[in-house]
Amino acid sequence: MLDKSKIAIIGYGVMGKAIVSSLINDGKVKPENLIVVEPTPDRLEVLQQEFGITGYADSADVIGQADIVIVAVKPQGLSHLSKSVKGNIKKDALVISIMAGVSLATLNEKLGVEQIIRTMPNTPAQVGMGITVWVKTPQVSDEKKEMASEIIKTLGDEVFVDDESYLDMATALSGSGPAYVFLFMESMIDAGVHMGFPRRIAEKLVTQTVRGSAEFFLQNHEHPARLRNDVTSPGGTSAEALYYLEKAGFRTAISRAIWAAYERSIELGKGKSKLVVDDKNKPE
Ligand SMILES: NC(=O)c1ccc[n+]([C@@H]2O[C@H](COP(=O)([O-])OP(=O)(O)OC[C@H]3O[C@@H](n4cnc5c(N)ncnc54)[C@H](OP(=O)(O)O)[C@@H]3O)[C@@H](O)[C@H]2O)c1
Repeated sequence: MLDKSKIAIIGYGVMGKAIVSSLINDGKVKPENLIVVEPTPDRLEVLQQEFGITGYADSADVIGQADIVIVAVKPQGLSHLSKSVKGNIKKDALVISIMAGVSLATLNEKLGVEQIIRTMPNTPAQVGMGITVWVKTPQVSDEKKEMASEIIKTLGDEVFVDDESYLDMATALSGSGPAYVFLFMESMIDAGVHMGFPRRIAEKLVTQTVRGSAEFFLQNHEHPARLRNDVTSPGGTSAEALYYLEKAGFRTAISRAIWAAYERSIELGKGKSKLVVDDKNKPE
């Protein structure tokens, strides 16, 4: 069914581009069945050069042709998008949203459709190694759910949940997760350079350490604390480093940071801008 469906991707930014390239590279969808809408002319030019697809600047003209609509604009852009989509979209179209914090109820109200899937992917989707958590409205048929799953799997792994509240948690954990991992990698690389490694070597050591540790964990099925203990000899180098990390509040900092992202995701869903000043936003 997927190869016979017309799929519209609204927004050809970082994530929209990842979705288009995954769908085409996986051979799931023919380029002629993709409708891409993006207001920035430069990005439409890149789309044409890379995939031979002619995109559109406004959804209003083309949205009515789509069986599946993937919304990949920023959450702040939804109200504006609503003007071109609501009333023009097919009543039985399946909408797949990747917008952080935008609920199924809001999507239903703004887009005027009932078959909706809300997802939270992450940026490693750009190399097919993402993780996407997703939820659906009860109106999504089994067949459409299967089609959505096929699309989502082109981005990497997936976790379907039946409770929408998991989406804000996923936003904080895996959606923003690459930012934490990259900060951690950057810190390790800088520490390597500080000791005297050429940056190129430090980058290689850190990248393979992170990749290898994740793979080792996946294949081992052990608790991470057990794997950590295996590299922590009494009185050794890892024990010394771990002592400093714990003393600096590493574990608590990670936990509090992710909780803050979770609260922010809920706030964004309620349409609160960052300029709202309250006690929570005051630096401690
Ligand atoms: N990046 C991440 O890590 C990540 C992870 C998970 C989920 N998400 C979600 O993915 C969505 C897209 O994020 P992104 O990082 O890809 O953002 P992005 O790079 O800014 O891409 C959004 C694109 O949509 C375009 N756009 C805005 N209004 C539009 C409209 N009415 N019709 C068609 N296109 C429109 C924007 O054009 P202009 O720039 O000209 O406005 C931009 O090119 C967001 O809702 C975000 O919450 C992002």
